[in-house]
Amino acid sequence: MENKTPTIQISATGKVVVTNAKQITLLDADGNTIPTRNRFSLCNCGKTQDAPFCDGAHKN
Ligand code: FES
Repeated sequence: MENKTPTIQISATGKVVVTNAKQITLLDADGNTIPTRNRFSLCNCGKTQDAPFCDGAHKN
Protein backbone atom coordinates (compact mmCIF):
# COMPACT_ATOMS: atom_id res chain seq x y z
CA MET A 1 0.00 0.00 0.00
CA GLU A 2 1.26 3.45 -0.93
CA ASN A 3 2.36 5.68 1.94
CA LYS A 4 0.09 8.75 2.06
CA THR A 5 1.64 10.30 5.15
CA PRO A 6 2.30 14.01 4.66
CA THR A 7 6.07 14.39 4.57
CA ILE A 8 8.46 17.33 4.64
CA GLN A 9 12.01 16.59 3.57
CA ILE A 10 14.97 18.96 3.46
CA SER A 11 16.97 18.07 0.38
CA ALA A 12 20.73 18.21 0.10
CA THR A 13 20.38 21.10 -2.39
CA GLY A 14 18.45 23.22 0.08
CA LYS A 15 14.86 23.03 -1.12
CA VAL A 16 12.20 21.73 1.22
CA VAL A 17 10.08 19.08 -0.50
CA VAL A 18 6.52 18.57 0.72
CA THR A 19 4.71 15.41 -0.43
CA ASN A 20 1.24 13.99 0.20
CA ALA A 21 0.27 17.56 0.98
CA LYS A 22 -3.49 17.44 0.37
CA GLN A 23 -4.20 18.06 4.06
CA ILE A 24 -1.45 20.64 4.55
CA THR A 25 -2.43 24.31 4.42
CA LEU A 26 0.37 26.70 3.48
CA LEU A 27 -0.13 30.20 4.92
CA ASP A 28 1.60 33.48 4.16
CA ALA A 29 2.75 35.93 6.85
CA ASP A 30 -0.77 37.37 7.10
CA GLY A 31 -2.45 33.99 7.49
CA ASN A 32 -3.76 33.84 3.92
CA THR A 33 -3.82 30.45 2.24
CA ILE A 34 -1.31 29.94 -0.57
CA PRO A 35 -2.62 27.42 -3.14
CA THR A 36 -0.47 24.31 -3.41
CA ARG A 37 -0.41 20.97 -5.15
CA ASN A 38 -0.10 17.53 -3.61
CA ARG A 39 3.66 17.88 -4.01
CA PHE A 40 5.59 21.13 -3.88
CA SER A 41 8.99 22.48 -2.94
CA LEU A 42 9.70 25.48 -0.74
CA CYS A 43 12.76 27.67 -1.17
CA ASN A 44 15.25 27.53 1.67
CA CYS A 45 18.09 29.38 -0.09
CA GLY A 46 16.54 32.82 -0.66
CA LYS A 47 17.32 32.92 -4.40
CA THR A 48 13.86 32.08 -5.78
CA GLN A 49 11.83 34.55 -7.84
CA ASP A 50 8.66 32.59 -6.96
CA ALA A 51 8.62 32.76 -3.16
CA PRO A 52 7.84 30.79 -1.12
CA PHE A 53 8.36 28.09 -3.75
CA CYS A 54 11.64 26.76 -5.09
CA ASP A 55 12.14 27.72 -8.75
CA GLY A 56 15.46 25.95 -9.21
CA ALA A 57 17.57 29.08 -8.64
CA HIS A 58 19.50 27.29 -5.86
CA LYS A 59 21.36 25.47 -8.64
CA ASN A 60 22.93 28.72 -9.90
S1 FES B 1 15.88 26.23 -2.65
FE1 FES B 1 15.50 26.19 -4.76
S2 FES B 1 15.44 28.26 -5.34
FE2 FES B 1 15.87 28.31 -3.22
